[in-house]
Amino acid sequence: MSKSSQKELSAMQELYQYAISYAKKAIENEKKGQKKAALDNYIKAVEILNKMIRWAPTPEQKEAYYRKAKTYLARAWEIRKELKKPGGEIGEEKGELSATIQDAIITERPMIKWDDVADLETAKQALREAIILPLLRPDLFKGARKPWRGVLLFGPPGCGKTLLAKAVASECDATFFNVSAATLVSKWLGESEKLVRELFKFSRKKQPSIVFFDEVDAIATTRGGTEHDAIRRVKLQLMQEMQGLATEVSEQIVVIGTTNVPWTIDPAFRRRFEKRILVPLPGKEAREQIFRIHTKDVELDESVVFNLLAEITEGFSGADIEIVCREAIMNPVREMDKSGLLKDKEAKIRPVTIEDFEKALQKIKPTVAPEELLGYEEWQQEFGSL
Ligand SMILES: Nc1ncnc2c1ncn2[C@@H]1O[C@H](COP(=O)(O)OP(=O)(O)OP(=O)(O)O)[C@@H](O)[C@H]1O
Ligand SMILES: [Mg+2]
Repeated sequence: MSKSSQKELSAMQELYQYAISYAKKAIENEKKGQKKAALDNYIKAVEILNKMIRWAPTPEQKEAYYRKAKTYLARAWEIRKELKKPGGEIGEEKGELSATIQDAIITERPMIKWDDVADLETAKQALREAIILPLLRPDLFKGARKPWRGVLLFGPPGCGKTLLAKAVASECDATFFNVSAATLVSKWLGESEKLVRELFKFSRKKQPSIVFFDEVDAIATTRGGTEHDAIRRVKLQLMQEMQGLATEVSEQIVVIGTTNVPWTIDPAFRRRFEKRILVPLPGKEAREQIFRIHTKDVELDESVVFNLLAEITEGFSGADIEIVCREAIMNPVREMDKSGLLKDKEAKIRPVTIEDFEKALQKIKPTVAPEELLGYEEWQQEFGSL
């Protein structure tokens, strides 16, 4: 077994233990009659297992985690029902769901500007056409010139999908609904379907709206026979809602989804994301910009040449570069701490040098393997929009 897959395996085992420990706590809670705490702990266990289902390398493992999650989910569901009975700790359904929307969905507009996102010009242009222009000038998007209703951003991890979606939201004057698909599925159990319905109802009321499903693959994947009923229902509901948007021309609502596993998306869903945009690994110039963005407001020595750093970081994602920067700019602080100077409020910190970056680069390696990139390119050629 290779070193990296061994590492993966032990990370999975650790996660598994973590999930089980929550389930054990839940069982303890139940014994003591602490139903609400038991419910919360079961849900935490399910959330972890849900992630593991997505990451598991083999179908057998997926299935094993799935079974486990299903057992806990069923138990949580039971407890939830008990708590809901008259006099139970959880209030009536209707009032609760509206509170739920506030809880599961962030409607605050993010503070990310276009300029905080390095390069990705093609993706930005596509998003402008697909989302910003129709919201800005609905009068131009009539008849055959229909606006896009579903946009899927796909690409390797850490390359700016989430960042871009947030930038779109802060650049246009629309209500922004930020939904984590994974939370939706695991946390809201059988109710996620109702939640989706309410969400779209609400977004109609508040239009123009952007409904953002980060990591939409948690809902939209094809799971075939092992699919849990609750997941299937929420998936169908979401599909119906998106279909509804496609037929109601007057509505100003667009759904943005992101995923780093586009090939797992159910074809029926894929079709509803009419525009599919690849967010690739950053090129050299983009890397240079990302270095600049993530060292903003930090004093740098003149030995630091971004051009050169960009040159030697081919294959790094934006997130990798961010970590390199954080590591490098921590170095002077670390030194001061070691020498005891940190306590001296007068002591000045030295600028960050190229050696700090070199040291960081020895520790941090790119997270996306070159062979993984091929998959995105193939998918782009087959199903992509640009
Ligand atoms: N083009 C970019 N410009 C500036 N920063 C970037 C860029 N791409 C990535 N980053 C940095 O990497 C971090 C992670 O990016 P983001 O969360 O958007 O990745 P993602 O594509 O959504 O990944 P995942 O598929 O894992 O969700 C960002 O918070 C940002 O700091
Ligand atoms: Mg993301």
